Amino acid sequence: MAPYAALWGGILAALLALPVATTSPRTLPLSESEKIQLIQDQLSNLPISVSKLSPLPVGSKRHGGRCKVYPGDADWPSNESWAELNDNTDGRLLKPRPQAAVCYEGPEYNAEACAEMSADWTNSYMHLDGPIEMLSPVYQGLTCVPPSIYDSGNCTQGGFPMYVVNATSPRHVQAGVNFARNTGIRLVVKNTGHDFLGKSGGASSLSIWTHYFKDISYIPEYVDEVGGYLGPAFKCGSGVQAFEIYKAASKKGRVVVGGEGETVGVMGGYIQGGGHSPLSSMYGTGADNVLAFEVVTPDGQFVTANFTHNSDLFWALRGGGGSTFGVATSVTVKAFLDFPTTVSRFTFSTADVTNETFWAGVRTYFDYFITNADAGTYSYFRILPSDPEAGQVTFRMVPFLAPNKTLEETHAILDPWFARLNDLGIVFDPHIKHYDSFYPAWDESFPLEAVQQVNVSSGSRLFPRANFADEGLLNKTFDEIRKSVETNHVVLAFNMKMISPDNRDNAVNPAWRQNVLFAIQSVRWSLNATVEEIWETRRGFTFGDMQRWRDISPGAGSYLAEADRLEPNFQQAFFGDKYPRLLEIKKKYDPEDVFWVATGVGSEGWQVESVDTLPNENGRLCRVEEGI
Ligand SMILES: Cc1cc2nc3c(=O)[nH]c(=O)nc-3n(C[C@H](O)[C@H](O)[C@H](O)COP(=O)(O)OP(=O)(O)OC[C@H]3O[C@@H](n4cnc5c(N)ncnc54)[C@H](O)[C@@H]3O)c2cc1C
Ligand SMILES: *[C@@H]1O[C@H](CO)[C@@H](O)[C@H](O)[C@H]1NC(C)=O
Ligand SMILES: *[C@@H]1O[C@H](CO)[C@@H](O)[C@H](O)[C@H]1NC(C)=O
Ligand SMILES: *[C@@H]1O[C@H](CO)[C@@H](O)[C@H](O)[C@H]1NC(C)=O
Ligand SMILES: *[C@@H]1O[C@H](CO)[C@@H](O)[C@H](O)[C@H]1NC(C)=O
Ligand SMILES: *[C@@H]1O[C@H](CO)[C@@H](O)[C@H](O)[C@H]1NC(C)=O
Ligand SMILES: *[C@@H]1O[C@H](CO)[C@@H](O)[C@H](O)[C@H]1NC(C)=O
Ligand SMILES: *[C@@H]1O[C@H](CO)[C@@H](O)[C@H](O)[C@H]1NC(C)=O
Ligand SMILES: *[C@@H]1O[C@H](CO)[C@@H](O)[C@H](O)[C@H]1NC(C)=O
Ligand SMILES: *[C@@H]1O[C@H](CO)[C@@H](O)[C@H](O)[C@H]1NC(C)=O
Repeated sequence: MAPYAALWGGILAALLALPVATTSPRTLPLSESEKIQLIQDQLSNLPISVSKLSPLPVGSKRHGGRCKVYPGDADWPSNESWAELNDNTDGRLLKPRPQAAVCYEGPEYNAEACAEMSADWTNSYMHLDGPIEMLSPVYQGLTCVPPSIYDSGNCTQGGFPMYVVNATSPRHVQAGVNFARNTGIRLVVKNTGHDFLGKSGGASSLSIWTHYFKDISYIPEYVDEVGGYLGPAFKCGSGVQAFEIYKAASKKGRVVVGGEGETVGVMGGYIQGGGHSPLSSMYGTGADNVLAFEVVTPDGQFVTANFTHNSDLFWALRGGGGSTFGVATSVTVKAFLDFPTTVSRFTFSTADVTNETFWAGVRTYFDYFITNADAGTYSYFRILPSDPEAGQVTFRMVPFLAPNKTLEETHAILDPWFARLNDLGIVFDPHIKHYDSFYPAWDESFPLEAVQQVNVSSGSRLFPRANFADEGLLNKTFDEIRKSVETNHVVLAFNMKMISPDNRDNAVNPAWRQNVLFAIQSVRWSLNATVEEIWETRRGFTFGDMQRWRDISPGAGSYLAEADRLEPNFQQAFFGDKYPRLLEIKKKYDPEDVFWVATGVGSEGWQVESVDTLPNENGRLCRVEEGI
């Protein structure tokens, strides 16, 4: 018996399992769910009917074909293999259909459910419990959108994954990662689906869905002598969202650095991509505040990445982008003492003043970007062609946020600008409101994120301090942003800086360190535009509108999570001089490219061959050159 057990143990190890639990002592206890890992002992108890797959030593390159294994390929996993994966994930393997399938002919058709869903489609909460939903439908390939918004003709899976592991323990993630690696199919990771570039999608892929890693535990005194931190921290499951961690922190009289949008997955893609925050001018990026990750690496191991363990991986995970180096199951972040916060929201538009007066008012604001960021404040504003037919433009402050500032201190910061708006005869009501703590200020002040439109694409730029330190350059920067709005692009922008009090040495895009204005512009095309027209619009945007912004900020960058999927030289734009080291770490941890994500580190060797030629996830993932 013994040799048999050993043999099957070996086969199973190669197919599904192999990882061994780390045995090193931990400073942080694992949560109950994290104790559920694949360890060598359990392998001998796994079922032995490992379908038709032949055992493979880890690291062997059997799947060296030009493309990831796709349905219809000879080596696409058999139904038995999928059943095996299901068994090894406690029955948590899903084969989900798009939510909007209820709107299209077929077994799922349900007129009532469709009407309800269509009415609420843009609400991000509507999509959170959907295993495959993406907030960027353009990059899904628009193959199943409610017809009242866009008629997909029929509902097909398109760029949505085919199978999903609804993971709640490291073992589920390990089984999924091993399955994808050993079968050669495409693997994706989805948390909330917020990424602007659609990086949680992938046609005919297996997706690891991290949404239900929801544990939050408070550590009153985290001690990290190497990282140089002694203070409170939260250990959070990687599915924890902004609204959850902010509330939990508030109950302990604390704050943490997270995004503005309430449903953003702050412990998932947000933090691994850097992450900007209403608190960034005080505490830096989300990634700057990470103390440790628990992560399943591409070889299926469940490891700790912190200042002393897998420190290169730890460095890369703090800014190098999600779905590249592994799947994080938890993140430990610094927490800070809560503080009072003052907020202001207001609007003015060309409905009340002339174009020139309106723009003069916006221009006066630009004079304060450096001082306001240096004062530790943050603002999120929008300049939008609100009624293009009437030529109307609106400025919305949504909001200006002053952490740890009294009402008086906030007035002192804003009043000089407000006086100039008053002098120009611009009418606005600043609605300044003071809160005793951060949580209610944040909760009441930000707009709920909406699902993106089906005819929109965005690009972004991290404008450095230098652009606002010299009046001539400031004027040029302002003129380019004005031009974008006047050519019918919506501009969303954030005035903040990314200080990094300590642990500056991480993979965060160095362009953030210079940033004073982070601006996004979006181009729109008509709903009935042909593929050729869309390409023309998008090229014009990427190499025209966005190039104007690049030209006035040479050497700066763009933010990888809110960016143009066609961003040229994305390695420089998203990672700056961190790219070579990131690529080295990618090759070390993921030599077989088990993980791939558009515009991610090491992604240049592959591309999605989309069925409509447009940049989206609806197609096979193949190597760029043949014969590698
Ligand atoms: C309306 C809106 C508001 C936003 N506000 C902000 C903001 O204030 N600040 C800011 O910085 N950004 C903001 N973002 C951008 C946001 O940071 C990105 O969309 C980010 O990718 C979201 O991460 P997620 O995990 O929620 O989303 P997903 O799209 O699910 O994931 C993003 C990427 O990370 C990967 N990933 C997710 N979880 C893991 C994991 N556990 N391990 C490995 N890889 C993982 C995914 O594969 C994907 O590639 C906003 C986005 C939207 C749509
Ligand atoms: C990193 O994690 C390991 C394993 O959990 C632990 O032994 C070590 O003390 C941690 N290092 C720091 C600096 O906290
Ligand atoms: C595999 O399962 C699918 C349904 O999920 C079914 O359509 C198909 O016929 C099965 N294939 C085989 C070979 O049994
Ligand atoms: C669904 O639409 C796709 C693309 O428009 C088309 O190729 C396919 O034949 C359609 N399928 C059905 C069943 O109509
Ligand atoms: C995923 O798992 C969670 C937690 O067990 C469960 O609540 C949820 O219903 C599951 N989702 C689906 C679509 O199966
Ligand atoms: C104001 O600017 C808009 C473009 O933003 C333009 O369409 C409109 O014609 C301008 N109005 C006047 C009076 O010049
Ligand atoms: C908050 O403001 C108070 C009063 O000005 C100051 O003493 C304190 O250091 C500030 N806290 C932070 C974290 O900056
Ligand atoms: C910048 O623009 C302002 C307002 O339009 C103008 O008064 C100023 O002279 C300009 N400065 C330079 C250096 O161009
Ligand atoms: C984009 O699509 C929306 C519907 O989703 C539509 O209302 C809007 O008019 C379209 N935009 C353009 C520029 O056609
Ligand atoms: C799209 O619709 C507009 C009118 O809404 C029309 O002018 C245009 O020709 C249409 N374009 C295509 C490609 O059908």
